[in-house]
Amino acid sequence: MYRLTAEQKNRVRALLGEMTLDEKIGQMNQESVSIVGGFDVPFEELIEMMTDGRITQEEFEKIMSTAQQDYHEDDIRAGLVGSLMVQDPRKCNELQKIAVEESRLGIPLMFGLDVIHGYRTVYPIAIAEAGAFDPDLFTRTARMAAKESRTQGVNWHFAPMLDVARDARWGRVSEGPGEDPYLVSQFAKTKIKGLQGDMSSTENYVAACLKHYVAYGACESGRDYNTVSMAPSMLHNSYLPPFKAAVEAGAATVMASFNDLNGVPCTVNPYTLRHILKESWKFPGFVVSDANAIRECVNHGIAATEPDAGTQAANAGMDVDMGTQIYKKHLKAAVESGEVPMSVIDEAAERILSVKMWLGLFDRPYVPEEAMDRYEVLPEEHRALAREAAEKAIVLLKNEGDILPLKKSQKISLVGQLAASREEIIGAWAMSWRESDCVSIKEGLERAGAELKYFPCCGPETEINRDDVEAACQYGDVIVAVVGETDAMSGEAASRADITLPGRQRELLGKLLASGKPVVACLMNGRPLALKWEAEHVPAILECWHLGVEMGPAVANVLLGGKNPEGRLASSFPAVTGMCPIYYNHMNTGRPGGRSKFTSRFMDAGFEPLYPFGYGLSYTSFTYSDLTVEDAGDELRAAVRVTNTGGREGVETVQLYMQDVTASIVRPVKELRGFTKVKLAPGETKSVTLTLKKADMGFYNDAGEYVTESGLFRIHAGGSSRDCLTAEVTVNF
Ligand code: BGC
Repeated sequence: MYRLTAEQKNRVRALLGEMTLDEKIGQMNQESVSIVGGFDVPFEELIEMMTDGRITQEEFEKIMSTAQQDYHEDDIRAGLVGSLMVQDPRKCNELQKIAVEESRLGIPLMFGLDVIHGYRTVYPIAIAEAGAFDPDLFTRTARMAAKESRTQGVNWHFAPMLDVARDARWGRVSEGPGEDPYLVSQFAKTKIKGLQGDMSSTENYVAACLKHYVAYGACESGRDYNTVSMAPSMLHNSYLPPFKAAVEAGAATVMASFNDLNGVPCTVNPYTLRHILKESWKFPGFVVSDANAIRECVNHGIAATEPDAGTQAANAGMDVDMGTQIYKKHLKAAVESGEVPMSVIDEAAERILSVKMWLGLFDRPYVPEEAMDRYEVLPEEHRALAREAAEKAIVLLKNEGDILPLKKSQKISLVGQLAASREEIIGAWAMSWRESDCVSIKEGLERAGAELKYFPCCGPETEINRDDVEAACQYGDVIVAVVGETDAMSGEAASRADITLPGRQRELLGKLLASGKPVVACLMNGRPLALKWEAEHVPAILECWHLGVEMGPAVANVLLGGKNPEGRLASSFPAVTGMCPIYYNHMNTGRPGGRSKFTSRFMDAGFEPLYPFGYGLSYTSFTYSDLTVEDAGDELRAAVRVTNTGGREGVETVQLYMQDVTASIVRPVKELRGFTKVKLAPGETKSVTLTLKKADMGFYNDAGEYVTESGLFRIHAGGSSRDCLTAEVTVNF
């Protein structure tokens, strides 16, 4: 929980009283390490020149070999830098020493970084981890990341990413916990607890940064950075709740998103930043822009010049400028001319200093020498946690004829370049991992003692090697094909207009299937894929995502039956790309999708997702019975009996949904409102009770007001958003 003691608040105020305007603006300036020397154009342009082919990779590397890194030491000494992105603990200490010992007021720096799914110990990407439906796990992985990063000087995580995302074309679906506001909110709260909660030592916690505020996940057509138009009710009901939950859980900082929202970029949006976040929610921390975003307001066409963009951002409530130096260069003049009130600067500086105070940086600014190498070798308990998370995130999508789990006696043809890759298992946005820590699927299976031969055959970006395919078809009793996306195919600036398996991989599966041998597709990917063909042709499909350093052992354990899969989809899978955006909690239409023509459907794809939110099979099976809903005053209690009808122990994720049947604005057909996991032995039945607070059964109207409306509600309980029992209840508020 981000909260200051009275003494800490006094210290901040006293310091503020001593600061010049320049020093206050300095706190609002975040620098990244600039690459300088050896070239005449800005570094960003140099990268662009390399990516668009104006210079070759070799030429780029040659230029870089003579370049130097500028850490802005002089500006730090002058008190003109508040934070930086650096991840070398010795460098952090060196720069911190300048700030603390050589600047006039000795204000320490914050060091921020994108620690999205682990620091040294990389665990599953968020869309995968969310599918574990395990709040305690979410907290434990965050705590591990906080501890590891703080020993490297990184005391500020640009995480958790809380963008509700419903369009799988958007590359950043990989970074966030899926399509459902309730699940994303649970993820949000538990991540804050893990990152910020253990204040027993300054080495244990970091400041979280909620991003991207707000509605970035709704970018039109899933094209990154694109515009967002959205009714206020949708914004309040679906996109703001995770941020609100995390603010209530005590998050220290927030990052504004790149997109415009109804015509106003979130970087300069007074409605979202000032009115909602700071005034209505009383968020006490500070807000940082996304990288370069203040400058990009000129491109948006909302600001005529860079100074104008800076003025608008500051006035809207943007406390920190990430990387453009616009505040540093222009804010003083804007204050002096009266365009930006001094109170805006005072408020920002106070918010920033307060977070630094809470982080303990004024008292212990340096990374202790003895902590720096603590995670040189990954501790076994960190690996074990990464493995637990990876195993829990794997989703069994299809298992015709019980092909899985594989039998120890079966010879395996392991196919696909991804199967032997150590890099690709990491996924988007991991910055501090080492290849030597990663265990590929091939290595995982070998360690588990599987009898296998490996045939690369083809990868997401390569041609099919026919000899390999022939040999693979001959060798194994079963073929395990690891297919999917490289890590670079999801994440920022990685939107795809066609989300089928990339390259020749579908063709590869076809060739393997032609052998007549059983084929298991292990998917390694950062987004829901359009799997219509695969679902029709491949008998067994395991969704393995990008699972982090322990991906190999986790996948092997599930394939070989040591672990019964329990992961669920945090995002619906379309059958074909054209169905995007697709999500279970959609509004009804006047003509709900059905079999007949004049209903809300696609002629060539129907209206149902191929695999819906909350879906995931097990090596056993579960049935539901006897749903009852009891009105217990302030809450409803839904009880349902769940039976393990299969032959082995398994874990079932029991999900509770509600529908407000008739309301003053149309409401979603289903909304998740609770979940729990139960472990059941074969034949065992347990009664599971989930409670639903009546206060949580309302919604926001278009004026942004939360209302509860009495009337008929449907309560659904089941093993996915599609397969539920339903009861009806009239609720009076
Ligand atoms: C991304 C943010 C990230 C920032 C700093 C931006 O491009 O959108 O998510 O935190 O860079 O690395």
